[in-house]
Amino acid sequence: MEVIIRERAGDAVSLTGAIIARALRKRPNLVLGLATGRTMVAVYDLLVAMYEDDGLDFSLARTFNLDEYIGLPPEDPDSYRFYMNKHLFHRVNIDLRNTHLPNGMADDIDAGCAQYEETIQDCGGIDLQLLGIGSTGHIGFNEPLSAMRTRAKALSPETIEQNFPRPHPSKGVPKRAITMGVGTILECRRCVLLATGEGKAAVVAKAVEGPVTSMISASALQLHPKCTVIVDEAAAAQLEHKPYYRWIFENEPEWEEYR
Ligand code: GLP
Repeated sequence: MEVIIRERAGDAVSLTGAIIARALRKRPNLVLGLATGRTMVAVYDLLVAMYEDDGLDFSLARTFNLDEYIGLPPEDPDSYRFYMNKHLFHRVNIDLRNTHLPNGMADDIDAGCAQYEETIQDCGGIDLQLLGIGSTGHIGFNEPLSAMRTRAKALSPETIEQNFPRPHPSKGVPKRAITMGVGTILECRRCVLLATGEGKAAVVAKAVEGPVTSMISASALQLHPKCTVIVDEAAAAQLEHKPYYRWIFENEPEWEEYR
């Protein structure tokens, strides 16, 4: 794992978008892992701008999202399918048949999860996985004590509160989700985790500099061979080794073109 600190949230988003765009230009049929949440809206806005202004081409890209709520159909505005269509898929030239999310409406959830893993393998595995982080340390919906493979997971009360702030919608809130497992994520060739804002500072410090523990699923990324954590100064506030992280961005050849 390496940590890159950018001054403002917008700078962290720009770097994230630039990494994705570069990967897509290099490999037009990139297998791209996608994430949801408020943080990612700005990333998708940026990718859409690159599509509109610079011809960033999604026509051959294949995508796999990390997670989906159980019991929410695609047309539900709270579902992650709806989110992805709204923020990215309907705004660029991607073929919707190449976009995948776990099916939270499947009759047989376990079979659907196994099928999801198989489809990822059939596509050759995920080249670049975009990640956010929840306050419980989750990546995808890998809440504390998470397992390795795609499966159903009970959401924590904290996550439900964060993703569905009160007053809750009249239809009620989902209590479970399907998520790629920690192992599914660790198998991605490259991971990029983006976290911005002071609200993320405590959990980022635990995930990056704390012990590797299934209580903080994102800490597993410390062991990934190519994981970049991109944070703004606010989200980096509680990190102890900032001078080292800054040195990496200033000196490592990989970052030269992004400086
Ligand atoms: C949800 C998603 C996570 C995401 C998290 C962060 O819980 N399942 O994949 O990382 O939100 O969300 P936000 O960016 O809104 O803080």
